[in-house]
Amino acid sequence: MPVTFVSSVPDNSSALIVPLGKGKPLDTATKELSGEAAKLIRRAAEASRFEGDLGSIVEIFDETEHGTRRIVIVGTGNGDDSESLQKAGGAAMAKLLTSGETGLTFDARSSGEKDAGSRMAFGALQRSWRLDSYRTKAPPKTKPTVEEISVVASDAEAKRWDHFEAVYAGIALARELVTEPPNVIHPQGFVERCRPLGELGIEIEVLDRDEMAELGMGALLGVAQGSIREPKLLVMRWDGTGGTQKNPVAFVGKGVTFDTGGISLKPGPGMEDMKFDMGGAAAVAGAMRTLAGRKAKAHVVGVCGLVENMPGSNAQRPSDIVTTMSGQTVEVLNTDAEGRLVLCDAMHWTQEKYSPDVMVDLATLTGAMIIALGNEHGGCFSNDDGLADQLLAAGTGSGDKLWRLPLGKAYDKLIDSPIADIKNVGPREAGSITAAQFLQRFVKDGVKWAHLDIAGMVWMKSASNLWDKGATGYGVRLLDRFIADNFEG
Ligand code: BES
Ligand code: MN
Ligand code: ZN
Repeated sequence: MPVTFVSSVPDNSSALIVPLGKGKPLDTATKELSGEAAKLIRRAAEASRFEGDLGSIVEIFDETEHGTRRIVIVGTGNGDDSESLQKAGGAAMAKLLTSGETGLTFDARSSGEKDAGSRMAFGALQRSWRLDSYRTKAPPKTKPTVEEISVVASDAEAKRWDHFEAVYAGIALARELVTEPPNVIHPQGFVERCRPLGELGIEIEVLDRDEMAELGMGALLGVAQGSIREPKLLVMRWDGTGGTQKNPVAFVGKGVTFDTGGISLKPGPGMEDMKFDMGGAAAVAGAMRTLAGRKAKAHVVGVCGLVENMPGSNAQRPSDIVTTMSGQTVEVLNTDAEGRLVLCDAMHWTQEKYSPDVMVDLATLTGAMIIALGNEHGGCFSNDDGLADQLLAAGTGSGDKLWRLPLGKAYDKLIDSPIADIKNVGPREAGSITAAQFLQRFVKDGVKWAHLDIAGMVWMKSASNLWDKGATGYGVRLLDRFIADNFEG
C-alpha cells in the first residue's frame, strides 16, 4: 500500500484521521477543522462516551466545499504504551480497511510526539496486512477497499519514513512465511521466498541434505528423516559496515515448517497450529529483510534450520541416539522435542563458520512457555546479563516484549542422559528452562548467547490493533531495534 507525505491535509482526502490522548480536550484534535466539524465531533464524542482510550474511535461526516469527508478521531490512551500511536493508527485501519473508503490521511501534528503521523501510518500498514490469495469466492464486502495512505508531516519526518517502511516489509515477510500453508512453505518453499532478498544486497547460502550430512549434523537430519521434504540450512548475511566489523552478530531461527511431533505424534485437534513452528526462522528472515532494506550499518548473519517433522517408516524413534555436529550425542526420548535438535546443529555450525561474539536464537520451542507467559511476552534466556538487558530494552521499546527466565546448573542436570551425553527432554517441570539448557550446551565459551522462546507470540487467536488474527510478525521489530540500538554505533 503506497504511503505518501503531504504538507497539509489535501482537499479531497476521503477519510481524515487525527489522534487524541486520553483526557485531552477535544479542541487539541479539532483546531484545524471547521467550527461546524468541531461541534459535530463534540456531540458525537459525548454521545459515544469517547474519552481517548487507546484504540477507541469517534467519527463524523463533515460537509466541505470539496465534498463530504469522514473525520475519525482515534484515542492514543494515557501515554503508558510505547506503541500507542502505532496502535491508534492500526485501530483506524481495522475500522476502515473494508469500509468502502479508499484513502486514509493521517494528521497527527497536534500530538507533539516525534514522527507521530509516521507511527500511525506504520501501525495502519501492519493492521492492513492479510493474505487473500487463496480466497477465490470472497464476498465483495469483505474485500479491502483502502488503497493508499497519506501522512501530513514535515519533510524531515518524511525523510525518516524509510526506516518504518523497511520494518513493515520485514514484518510482512515474516507474516507471509508463517501464514502460507505448510505444503507451500516447506524447507524449499521457505528458501525460495527468501531468495529475492539477494537483490537487497543480502548474501544467500543454502546447505542441502548431503552437505549437512558431510558436516555431521546428525540431530537436525534425524528430525528431517521422517519427511520426504529435503531439509535446508538457509544462511542470509548482511554487511552494512563495509567489511570493518569482522564477526557478525548471529540470529538463528527454528524453522520447523510443520511439526506433527513425529513418532511421538501430537494429538489431532489443534495440530494445524504447527504450521507456525517456523516462526523463529520467519522472524530471522524478516529481520534480515528489514536490516538490508534500511541499509543498517551493522554486520549480521541470519541462519534458519528448515525441516519438516513427520512420522513415517524412516522417521526417528524415541530412544534413537544421534550425534550432533559438535560431537555431543543426544538420546532422542521424544521426537516432538525436535526444535532443540534442529537448533543445536544450526547454532554449532553458525559459531564454527562466523565466530560471532553475540548469538541470539529464536524459536517456538515449548508449549510450557505459553503456560508461563501467555501471549504477552516472549521468554528470554541468556548467559550474559548485558545481552539480556539489551534485548529486554529492545523489547519494551519496540513493542515485541520479552521477559527473562533463569538458567542454572540444577536445571542443566535434568537433561543428563543415562546412555548418551544429553537427553532431549527433561521432566515436565520447567520445560522451557530445560529446553534452554539443552541449547546452552551447544554455546561455545566466550559467546554471548540468548535464547528467545517465542511459542506464544507468533500466532494470535484474536485480532488486535496491530494484526488481524493469525501471524503477528513478532521478532522483526525486536531484532531491528536490538541492532539499531547496540550495533550501529
Ligand atoms: N513446536 C512445539 C512447541 C509449541 C507448542 C509451540 C505449542 C507453540 C505452541 C515443540 O516442538 C514441542 O512440541 N515441544 C514439546 C516439548 C516436550 C515434548 C518436551 C512441548 O512443548 O510439548
Ligand atoms: Mn515438537
Ligand atoms: Zn516444534
